Amino acid sequence: EIKNLEELFDQRIARDEKIEPKDWMPEKYRKTHIRQISQHAHSEIVGMLPEGNWISRAPSMRRKVALLAKVQDEAGHGLYLYSACETLGISREELYEQLHSGKAKYSSIFNYPTLTWADIGAIGWLVDGAAIINQVPLCSTSYGPYARAMIRVCKEESFHQRQGYEIMMTLAKGTPEQKELAQDALNRWWWPSLMMLGPSDAESVHTEQSMKWKLKRKTNDELRQQFIDQTVPQADLIGLTVPDPNLKWNEEKKHYDFGDIDWDEFWQVVKGHGPCNKERLSARVNAWEEGEWVRDAAMAYAEKQQNNKIK
Ligand code: 3HC
Repeated sequence: EIKNLEELFDQRIARDEKIEPKDWMPEKYRKTHIRQISQHAHSEIVGMLPEGNWISRAPSMRRKVALLAKVQDEAGHGLYLYSACETLGISREELYEQLHSGKAKYSSIFNYPTLTWADIGAIGWLVDGAAIINQVPLCSTSYGPYARAMIRVCKEESFHQRQGYEIMMTLAKGTPEQKELAQDALNRWWWPSLMMLGPSDAESVHTEQSMKWKLKRKTNDELRQQFIDQTVPQADLIGLTVPDPNLKWNEEKKHYDFGDIDWDEFWQVVKGHGPCNKERLSARVNAWEEGEWVRDAAMAYAEKQQNNKIK
C-alpha cells in the first residue's frame, strides 16, 4: 500500500506537480521540509539582529529608512516561512522552542558582528546577494507553500541587494578612509558569505535526497560558483579587491577558480562557537520572554472582542 503511495508521489514529483499540505507525502519529505523551512525562517528572524544594530546609527535619513524597510522585510519573510512550515503540522510555539533551546539551526552568516556601517553595505550586497541566488531556485521547489513564499521573498531581496551594493559603491568612491571601510567589510564578509551556501556537495548529507524531491534545484557548490561568478565583477567595478589570492578567471571553464574555504571555521560557527552565536540566541530568548505580556494582552483583547461579538 505505502509502496504504491510512494510510487504515485514520485511520479507527481517527476511531473513537476506542486505538493500541497493536504496531499499524501512520505514522512521523510515532511520532516526534511520542516527542517529546512523552519531553519530558513529562524535565519530571517536572527538575521534582523546584525542589521538592527545600525538602524540608530545610519549616516543619513535615506540610509536609515532603507535599512528599516529591509529589517522589516526580514521579519515578514520569517513570518511567511513559519506559516509555510506550520502547514506541515508543527506549531509556531514548537518552532520558537526549537530555536530558543538551540535545537534548531539558523544561517551561520548571522553569527558575525557588524563592526562598521560598511558592514551593512556588505551584508546587503553579499549576504542578500547569496540569499537571492539560493532562493530563486526555491521558487520552483516542489512543496507549494514554500515555493509561493519564495516568490514574494525574492522580489524584496533584490531591493536589499541593490541598497547594499549602492552603500558599497558610495563608500568605494568616497574618501580613502571610506574606501578602506568598504574593503575591510569585504575582507570580513567574503568567506562567511561563501560558507552560507552550505558545505561542499561531497560533505552535504541532504543534497542528494533534496534534489530527488525537487526541494533543491541546484546543489550547494553550483549556487556558490554562481554567486562568485556574479559578485567578483561587481567588486572589480567599484575598485574593491576580493580577499582570495587564488581567485582567477578560468576561460576554459567560464568560471572563477577560487581558494579553499575554511570548513573548520564553518562547522565551528554551525556548532555554536562563532563570534556572536551566544549573543544572537540570548537576544531572541530575551525578546521572547520580555514580549510575553504583549502576547497575553493581545490574546485577552482578542477574547474580549470575540465575547462582545457573541453578545
Ligand atoms: N548555516 C547553518 N547551518 C547550515 C548551513 C549554514 N549556512 N549550511 C548548511 N547547514 C547545515 C544544514 O542545516 C544541515 O544540518 P541539519 O541536518 O541539522 O539541518 C547540515 O549543515 C548539512 O548541510 P546540507 O547542505 O546537507 O543541508 P541542506 O541540504 O539543508 O542545505 C542550505 C543547506 C543550502 C542552507 C539549505 O538548507 C537551504 O537552501 N535553505 C534555505 C535557504 C536558507 O535557509 N538560507 C539561509 C539564509 S536566509 C537569508 O539570508 C535571509 C536574507 O534576507 C538575508
